[in-house]
Amino acid sequence: MNDRAPVVAVLPAAGSGVRLGAGAPKAFVELAGVSMLARAVDGVLASGVVGHVVVVVPVDQVPDAAGLLAGRPVSVVPGGADRTSSVAAGLAAIGSGAEVVLVHDAARPLTPAGVIRRVVDAVRAGAPAVIPVLPVIDTIKQVDADGVVMSTVDRSALRAVQTPQGFRADDLRRAHAGTPDPRTDDAGLVEALGDPVATVEGDPLAFKVTTAWDLRIAELLLTGAAVEPAEGRR
Ligand code: CTP
Ligand code: MG
Repeated sequence: MNDRAPVVAVLPAAGSGVRLGAGAPKAFVELAGVSMLARAVDGVLASGVVGHVVVVVPVDQVPDAAGLLAGRPVSVVPGGADRTSSVAAGLAAIGSGAEVVLVHDAARPLTPAGVIRRVVDAVRAGAPAVIPVLPVIDTIKQVDADGVVMSTVDRSALRAVQTPQGFRADDLRRAHAGTPDPRTDDAGLVEALGDPVATVEGDPLAFKVTTAWDLRIAELLLTGAAVEPAEGRR
């Protein structure tokens, strides 16, 4: 694959956002006046390495999403009951010209261009599947059903996984065709086939907006409102 191989991004945005509890599908919730969906799409396009974006939304939101994203190189398709089937629907809508496919959560609207480029560069350089990761900072413990600690896990070999995840288009199609079980990410499907998955450095700004707390953090980051240290602790 050469270093200009065409890249298409699939943005799964068909979840309902139960944990956010905003009363609307999460991708349509606004951050500083702009929907997470539009922010995520514009972030991907601003990387300069993605030619087209396939956005996957709840079936009754297709017209709204198309209106919201008008003027951008985007197609909008209806999603499925779980993330894996939504990504599969997006994948089915990709033209045959794409050599690299990125899969990127619409719920990561602040993802910096650098992460997107690192993933694309690694796939173009020959890796069949690439994920951005961060080291795990907290101590991790395994507990039993009563919440009593059973063991402390060695975190040095653990990584927290972000998106975009990048793939050779044919490999991602094969992974989706081969594994019917829903997974929380697409690299998991590639792993299930026994194929290698490479890692590149992620970025804290690529965090996923899952809860109301995350939404608050994202809004603060966008509006630049500083969190003042408490009196006496300056
Ligand atoms: N997603 C999707 N189709 C689904 C479920 C999830 O396209 N059936 C997408 C979400 O829209 C989101 C990404 O997958 O961009 C990551 O999922 P998550 O953060 O779990 O979002 P939701 O499923 O919407 O949230 P929740 O699990 O709290 O309901
Ligand atoms: Mg979910």
